[in-house]
Amino acid sequence: MLDGKKMLFSGMQATGNITLGNYLGALKNWVNLCDEYECFYCVVDLHSITVRQEPAELRKRARNLLMLYIAAGIDPEKNCLYYQSHVSGHAELGWILNCFTYMGELNRMTQFKDKSAKHADNINGGLYTYPVLMAADILLFQSDVVPVGADQMQHLELTRDIAQRFNNVYGDVFTIPEAYVGKAGARIMSLQDPTKKMSKSDENPNASIYIMDDRDTIIRKFKRAVTDSDTRIIYSEDKPGIRNLIDIYSVASGKTIAEVEKEFDGKGYGDFKLAVGETVADVLEPIHKRFDELSKDKAYVDGIIKANAEKAGYIANKTLRKVQKKVGFPERIR
Ligand code: TYM
Repeated sequence: MLDGKKMLFSGMQATGNITLGNYLGALKNWVNLCDEYECFYCVVDLHSITVRQEPAELRKRARNLLMLYIAAGIDPEKNCLYYQSHVSGHAELGWILNCFTYMGELNRMTQFKDKSAKHADNINGGLYTYPVLMAADILLFQSDVVPVGADQMQHLELTRDIAQRFNNVYGDVFTIPEAYVGKAGARIMSLQDPTKKMSKSDENPNASIYIMDDRDTIIRKFKRAVTDSDTRIIYSEDKPGIRNLIDIYSVASGKTIAEVEKEFDGKGYGDFKLAVGETVADVLEPIHKRFDELSKDKAYVDGIIKANAEKAGYIANKTLRKVQKKVGFPERIR
C-alpha cells in the first residue's frame, strides 16, 4: 500500500519492435489503472540481455519504449515509469530469490523452452533464471496486482510460489500478487499464423503490426492476414484467423464481438480486413504524434527518467532491506 492505494507492477522488454499485441494486451489496459492503484511500469532492460543485444540499439529501444509508455497515455506524473537497470534492487533481490527457486520449476517454463530453441547457440544462465528476475520485479514492489497478457501467466504463478515459499520460512515478507487480465486483448495472434501469438521476435514482419507502423503498412498487413476459406465474419473457435481479426477490431473499436458480427453481417473478408486496418491505424495515429513530440523534448523525458528512478529506488530499497535482514545479512554500519 502507498497513500492508501494497492500496488501494481508491470513491465515490457525493450527488445524488438513493440507490437499491437503488446499494445492491446498490455499498454492500453495500463492507462487508467492509476486511478485505483499505485502503478509502477518498468522497461525491463536487464531481461533484454538474456538475448544478445547491440548496446547502442538497446539503449535507443529502451528510451523509445519509455517514451511509448507516455505516448500511449500513461501519465508519468501519476505513474512511475523507469528503467529496471536504474534500480539495483531488482538484481539483488533476483539473486536471493534464485536461492528459493528449484531447477525443476525453471525446467517447466515454456518461454525458456521456446527461447532456448530459438537461440540454441546462447542458452545462458540468465535465460534460465529469467522468471526469477521477473518474480523479483514484482515482489520488490509488494505488488497486489500484475497486469499481463496470457503468455506471462506461468511466470506469475511461479512468482506466487516463490513468494509463498519465502513467507513460509520468514513470515509475511511479500505480498502475494494476483494477475490482472484485461477484459480483452489478452492474446493477440500472428497475422500469418493465427495459432501463434503475435510476437516482437517473429522473423516475418507481415506477421505483426508494429506500433510504429505507418497507416499504409498497417492496412497492407491486415489485407494480407491469413484467414480461412469461409467468407462470413463469425467468431468461432475453429476459425482462428478471422477470430483474431474480430478480437483486434473489437478491442480497437470498443465494440463487443456480437456488435462486430452484426456490423459485418452480409459483408466479405475484404471489407472487414480494410475496416480492421483503418481502425487500428486511427488508434495508433495519436500515439505516433505524441511520440514525435516527446522525441524532440529531451529535457522533459530526462526529467521523468530521473525523478521516477528515484521514487522506484526508494520503494524497492525498503523491501530489499527487509529481505536482507530476514535472510541474515549483517546490518550496515552508518
Ligand atoms: P513482453 O515484453 O514479452 O510483453 C509485454 C506485455 O505484452 C503482453 N503481450 C501480449 N498480449 C497479448 N497478445 C500478445 N500477442 C502479446 N505479446 C505480448 C505480455 O503478456 C506482457 O504483459 N517477461 C515479461 C516482462 C516482464 C514483466 C515483469 C511483466 C519482466 N518483469 C514483471 C510483468 C511483471 C515479458 O517479456 O513481456
